[in-house]
Amino acid sequence: MMRNYNSRQTAKPGKKPVPLFADRNAYLPLRAIIKDIVEENELVKTFAVVFEDEIYNTNFTYLPGQFLMLSMPHCGEAPISFSSSPSRPGSFSLTIRKAGKLTSAVHELQPGDMIGVRGPYGKPFPFEEMRRHDLLFVAGGIGMAPLRSVIEFCLDYRADYGDIKVLYGCKTPADFCFRQDLEKWAGEGLITTRFTVDAACEEWNGCVGLVTDLLDDVTISAGSVKALVCGPGVMIRFVAERLLRSGLPAGDIITTLERHMKCGIGVCGHCHYDSRMICTDGPVFTVSQLPDLESL
Ligand SMILES: Cc1cc2nc3c(=O)[nH]c(=O)nc-3n(C[C@H](O)[C@H](O)[C@H](O)COP(=O)(O)OP(=O)(O)OC[C@H]3O[C@@H](n4cnc5c(N)ncnc54)[C@H](O)[C@@H]3O)c2cc1C
Ligand code: FES
Repeated sequence: MMRNYNSRQTAKPGKKPVPLFADRNAYLPLRAIIKDIVEENELVKTFAVVFEDEIYNTNFTYLPGQFLMLSMPHCGEAPISFSSSPSRPGSFSLTIRKAGKLTSAVHELQPGDMIGVRGPYGKPFPFEEMRRHDLLFVAGGIGMAPLRSVIEFCLDYRADYGDIKVLYGCKTPADFCFRQDLEKWAGEGLITTRFTVDAACEEWNGCVGLVTDLLDDVTISAGSVKALVCGPGVMIRFVAERLLRSGLPAGDIITTLERHMKCGIGVCGHCHYDSRMICTDGPVFTVSQLPDLESL
């Protein structure tokens, strides 16, 4: 039987979800308030966000892998993935790397400040296909943000999944995001974690090397594992190639792609990739759906 993973709906059976944009212009953002900010590292902050209008807090639903279009007046709009799980209601989280005009402006905000959001958009991770499989998460840098949403979600439905391993690589030890969460979950025996850095410092006593090196210690049993890979394009490519060589079918390697977006809803063509739109056909794809790995 198909599981209804939308916990906010299952938590309130009989309650009809309110479509966010059924009665309004799809491009109009909703006002949302920053409740809390966690500084993950020098360039990355995680923002816990709630809607100004309580009706959206009650009825807003999303799934890991989906994204929002985030905006601020005079700074533009950009797609940002959910880094929280919808199975943990109250607020949602966006983990944002300072990259350009908008994200730099968002980094200046304080709790209580307002942002605009519209969404959720895009296809989520394929949870029905992932059920009853071991899950291998491979993340690079801020690529852990959408995967954290999936990990929290899978932990809340832990019995649905087999072994959960997380391999996480960053440039330096200071660059890790959510490391305390990951260590806590590993400490509770819920997942296994391995970390690596490109360049170590004195306090670092973990692995040094690329995240692909961590795969040397992982046994891949084709058919029973789904790999979720997220990070810079070149990292996705090398991890995917390594997993394919280990015998994992391309359909069992799942990733999320990033392209510059304008509308986020399949209208403008800005995020065109091969014969697809990243915003509506993705951003989650299996490697078997990609034309080639060189274009990542
Ligand atoms: C589905 C999806 C999910 C995402 N999730 C996250 C997330 O969770 N967290 C996060 O931090 N980021 C995320 N991103 C990336 C984020 O949307 C971009 O970094 C966004 O461009 C930031 O906006 P900005 O105005 O701050 O920076 P921009 O002004 O857009 O600049 C960002 C960088 O892109 C370059 N650039 C600008 N315009 C173009 C262009 N037209 N073509 C090529 N390069 C250009 C700039 O030179 C700069 O290096 C996601 C992207 C996608 C598609
Ligand atoms: S961003 Fe406009 S079609 Fe994808």
